[in-house]
Amino acid sequence: MTANPPRKKTVLSVFGTRPEAIKMAPVLRRLRTETGLRSLVCVTAQHREMLDQVLSWFEIRPDHDLDLMRDGQTLTEITTRALGALTPYFERERPDLLLVQGDTTTTMAASLAAFYARVPVAHVEAGLRTGDNAYPYPEEVNRRITTVIASRHFAPTEGARANLLREGVDPGTITVTGNTVIDALLEVVKLEPKRAPRLPLRGKRLILVTAHRRENFGAPLLEIAGALRDLAERYPDVDLVYPVHRNPNVDVPVRKALTGVAGVHLIDPLEYKPFADLMAISTLILTDSGGIQEEAPSLGKPVLVLRDETERPEAVEAGVVKLVGPHREAIVREASTLLNDPARYRAMAAAVNPYGDGHAAERIVGVIREMLGAG
Ligand code: UD1
Ligand code: UDP
Repeated sequence: MTANPPRKKTVLSVFGTRPEAIKMAPVLRRLRTETGLRSLVCVTAQHREMLDQVLSWFEIRPDHDLDLMRDGQTLTEITTRALGALTPYFERERPDLLLVQGDTTTTMAASLAAFYARVPVAHVEAGLRTGDNAYPYPEEVNRRITTVIASRHFAPTEGARANLLREGVDPGTITVTGNTVIDALLEVVKLEPKRAPRLPLRGKRLILVTAHRRENFGAPLLEIAGALRDLAERYPDVDLVYPVHRNPNVDVPVRKALTGVAGVHLIDPLEYKPFADLMAISTLILTDSGGIQEEAPSLGKPVLVLRDETERPEAVEAGVVKLVGPHREAIVREASTLLNDPARYRAMAAAVNPYGDGHAAERIVGVIREMLGAG
């Protein structure tokens, strides 16, 4: 009689939104090639179309799709639906490790469901903090809850590691890995430009814009829209390209405020590669996105952050990123300085890599392999 081979340890990755999928893609690719581990992927689909764009680009085929997104979902709805769907799934699959990324409601709810099912949690992009639970809302609390539950923490930077240590996290459970978004970015930018959006550009300089944060819903978003309108009027040689997030709290007011403004191009969310190509050819980026604050410095693109705080201070310290807030006058002033003054522009446009070297996924999977005794 021959003994059954030992069961492979299962790593279950759960994610639900566009940025989580982009940042998990390099990790999933590595996990797939680990012969000693079984990699399972479950998407909550907290996002639908924007998630599917990433899944298809990176050829990620989820083993399970909870298909949770509803139009205009509330935080409570997405949390309870994710908890309700994930709990029986964890009970059924009994993974040896849950891998989550970042600070979305999917991240937090999956961590909590794992805690209830007594499944250990490892957290990718651990330790980002503003220190203020209200900014960003609800992400600061989502990531703190995830830290409390997780038993392994993959911190992207030394600063993130220091934040975790300040909260009493055991130093032996933290590894500084770099951010996996840089792995993803470096992989796509070296590919030939593909499916670039054809836009009726009027000038030679391009400002890329994104905005979607809950703190900016309402009046701040209108301030941002006002600033874009001012810049488009003031600089006829500049085009502002804005892939509009599908959240109706963003899509509806932004399209109402800016449709038809000469020089402002409102487009649908782009696939990752065309978006990275747009970043690479842009003069300047205006955004409240976390991921773009990490990517743009690697491309040497100045970023004006449409927020008053950031959990990503490294690029601000390096001088490539500046906080301007969602304030019309400040946005116009700072963007004008960069558009008018080549010396100031050059000073800000230096390429730096505070968020990673493209090998974060390798480090993460190395630690997981060791943790699970997978050779
Ligand atoms: C979520 C995350 C945020 C992350 C952002 C990335 C939470 C609470 N928020 O915010 O941390 O930075 O994703 O983009 O986890 N929608 C679509 N199609 C899509 C995606 C969204 O129609 O593909 C619409 C739906 O009406 C949906 C709404 O946007 O109900 C809001 O989506 P939700 O995931 O709740 O919040 P986001 O603002 O996208
Ligand atoms: N991105 C994309 N298409 C777009 C806009 C952004 O692929 O039209 C990418 C961007 O390069 C970054 C990520 O999506 O990697 C950021 O996602 P988002 O702004 O939704 O979330 P955040 O980073 O704020 O959590």
